[in-house]
Amino acid sequence: MKRRVAILISGRGSNMAALIEAATADDFPAEIAVVISNKADAGGLAKAAASGVATVIIESKPFGRDRAAFEAVLQSALDQNKIDLICLGGFMRLFTAEFVQRWHGRMLNIHPSLLPSFPGLDPHGQALNAGVKISGATVHFVIPETDAGPIVMQGAVAVADDDTPDTLAARILEIEHRIYPDALRLLAGGRIRLEGDLCKTTDGAGPAGTLISPAMRLRDV
Ligand code: GAR
Repeated sequence: MKRRVAILISGRGSNMAALIEAATADDFPAEIAVVISNKADAGGLAKAAASGVATVIIESKPFGRDRAAFEAVLQSALDQNKIDLICLGGFMRLFTAEFVQRWHGRMLNIHPSLLPSFPGLDPHGQALNAGVKISGATVHFVIPETDAGPIVMQGAVAVADDDTPDTLAARILEIEHRIYPDALRLLAGGRIRLEGDLCKTTDGAGPAGTLISPAMRLRDV
């Protein structure tokens, strides 16, 4: 039985689109049952509808700081859709610890940095300011702390000297669209397990290669 997934968005929904596309494969162990946005003008809503996925809008603004009241409405939408797993895709609203606990081990997020480096806002600017030579994206389980939690999968890119936040974001976004569907495949297929604060891959994460940056093309003699 395919696991039923809700994707929560606040904006353009490109990760959402990558997940929807991946889930069209017959052998994908999850189906995208609903896309829920906390903003009525989120660009991703039209993309989801065009893909034939049900959409729900639950505006969070009227709830102000009453997170629990917003989450009660959200939870009933999740219940109605018989949701097993949640994927956050650029969902820009914090949850209460109670909601996070309720979905412990069943809610994923993606963040465009190699966590635990550069959580929060402007991760690309943070990476460039720090002068790192490699950055990337992380899919992780959600815990009460923002952009933290057991890491499921990461993908890396080299950072170029002339990168701007926008050019770096564009390269990392391509990685996001690859690793989020793969991470969901692992979770929905029962191929990962939580060991305390860590996530382990049941069938082993084979070394797929090495990324060294900057690349040395000439060797001094
Ligand atoms: C993505 O880059 C995602 O990693 C980031 O928001 C963007 C949403 O884009 N999430 C965070 O920064 C979470 N802290 P999308 O709507 O096109 O998927």
